[in-house]
Amino acid sequence: MPAQYCVSLASIQKAHTAISGLVHRTPVLTNSTLDRQAQRKLFLKCELFQKTGSFKIRGALNAVSSIAEGRQEGEEIRAMVTHSSGNHGQALALAARMKGIPAYVVVPRTAPACKKAAMLEYGARIVECEPSEQARAAAASRTVVETQGVLVHPNQDPLVIAGQGTIGLEILQQVPDVQAVVVPVGGGGMISGIAVAIKAQQPQVKIYAAEPENADDCYRSKRSGQLTPNTQPPMTVADAVKTSIGANTWPIIRDLVDDVFTVGEEEIQRATRLVWERAKLVIEPTAGLGVAAVLSPRFRELPASLRNVCVVLCGGNADLDSLEWLRGAQGGRDGL
Ligand SMILES: Cc1ncc(COP(=O)(O)O)c(C=O)c1O
Repeated sequence: MPAQYCVSLASIQKAHTAISGLVHRTPVLTNSTLDRQAQRKLFLKCELFQKTGSFKIRGALNAVSSIAEGRQEGEEIRAMVTHSSGNHGQALALAARMKGIPAYVVVPRTAPACKKAAMLEYGARIVECEPSEQARAAAASRTVVETQGVLVHPNQDPLVIAGQGTIGLEILQQVPDVQAVVVPVGGGGMISGIAVAIKAQQPQVKIYAAEPENADDCYRSKRSGQLTPNTQPPMTVADAVKTSIGANTWPIIRDLVDDVFTVGEEEIQRATRLVWERAKLVIEPTAGLGVAAVLSPRFRELPASLRNVCVVLCGGNADLDSLEWLRGAQGGRDGL
């Protein structure tokens, strides 16, 4: 594997040692209804059961631990700063709290209320910004200066990508005969880490990205061979993947991701509902995206010999306020 990637199997294994015991080794579940509909054997890697309700704690905790351990004698880390529409913000807040460091999260003002509330509960200080990638980056840079903090990018930081790659290590242990892994892609941190972890050990395992048609920068980048970010803020129910892939994740995606499957909004909604109804797993729509990809007409055209497919159910932070009958009923949200 070329050395120019920002993560390696060794950095992912190091991340695994750093975070194991502090995060969950999430289960892999199966469901015969889903298998029948996909006409394959599906293995659901349940990151919705992860601490903070998504895989994001893996990368955030690896980054915060490594920064905290790397500090000089007597040096104080004043703050951790990031920008996030929700899940990485929650994860960074909890990771920073575990290490006794304040966390500042720049959040687009359109982010789901449940995600903002959860960040606050994990102790984050929230800085609101306009919903564009430029506005997020600018507000985060300002906050770093004001707090004298350290920026932990949600998907381009090599320590974050290495942390997310630990999902790949676990999949190979939990599903030894896996033939393909399907991963929702936003900034590409999760799929890049998983791709490096898996291809370094089992290069024949296919790595497939799942993307909304309305936020298809990864698909377009792969087709053109050039990093091609979304130009407008995308409109999709899969709110965690509105962001575009970036400079660190693009070379890995370009070389190691075998294909990108795009799906429409209705397909994402239908797949999310199917998983709730039949598998009884409360996933957020971004996790439904991976299931929608496996059920899509183009995926069905893949040979039947591609039998064992692992889908990463990346998160469970669904906005329950969007369900009419549940609105107003407040439950516990400690999520730990
Ligand atoms: C639940 C969930 N799934 C997928 C993603 C996409 O991850 P990445 O940006 O690393 O591609 C995110 C990112 O926030 C997420 O929260």
